[in-house]
Amino acid sequence: MPLKTTTTGRLISFEGSEGSGKSTQIARLAEHFQKIHREVVTTREPGGTEIGEQIRNIIVHNSKGDEMCAETELLLFTAARAQVVREVIAPALMRGAIVLSDRYLDSSTVYQGIGRNLAADPVAQINRFAVGNVMPDLTVVIDVPTEVSLARLKQRASDLPDRMERENVDFYKKIREGYLVLAQGMPERFIVVDGTKTQDTIEKKIWAEVQARLK
Ligand code: TYD
Repeated sequence: MPLKTTTTGRLISFEGSEGSGKSTQIARLAEHFQKIHREVVTTREPGGTEIGEQIRNIIVHNSKGDEMCAETELLLFTAARAQVVREVIAPALMRGAIVLSDRYLDSSTVYQGIGRNLAADPVAQINRFAVGNVMPDLTVVIDVPTEVSLARLKQRASDLPDRMERENVDFYKKIREGYLVLAQGMPERFIVVDGTKTQDTIEKKIWAEVQARLK
């Protein structure tokens, strides 16, 4: 069933490897919109709803996580997404809000499809089923070299390596490459920003692009 949306609501997703600085930039972009009196809703994948948080715990903190197959992982991530779309995102868009999502369907395309080698077609179909017609108006990829993102991850004091973060360097190289290829194929939806620049520079670039693209 198609979900209802409006002409004033906008969905902007943020993508990139761990440690790329998505959450800092989401907070900064939210402030820009608040200054011009737009309602802003931020959501985080794979959480963002109570059901989503429970699903997230299964995926991320499961001590037996290594035994989870890629197919299960895909279905759990997309299940959490189906919930957040219907519970949070679509209603917010209906109110005319700006929704900033920390990860969205491209994370499944890249992590489960490219990273875990699941076939692209079923991943795309399952993704589409989960989101209905709620596609991002704009997707910001914050690109950082793999070495930089892994070094930043190690510095996150509270972040003990969890299931996803135990993956090896080659996996993260595939993720980075995957995002760049995806963005190249859909330049009208994606913007790629250099995540090694200062947070202020990245913020300005994103705000300028958002204003230019989302009239
Ligand atoms: P989290 O600690 O929430 O995020 P982040 O790295 O964005 O700060 O961890 C989310 C992990 O789940 C991250 O490794 C990416 C992964 N992931 C997928 O593999 N597929 C998905 O569809 C989503 C949404 C996330």
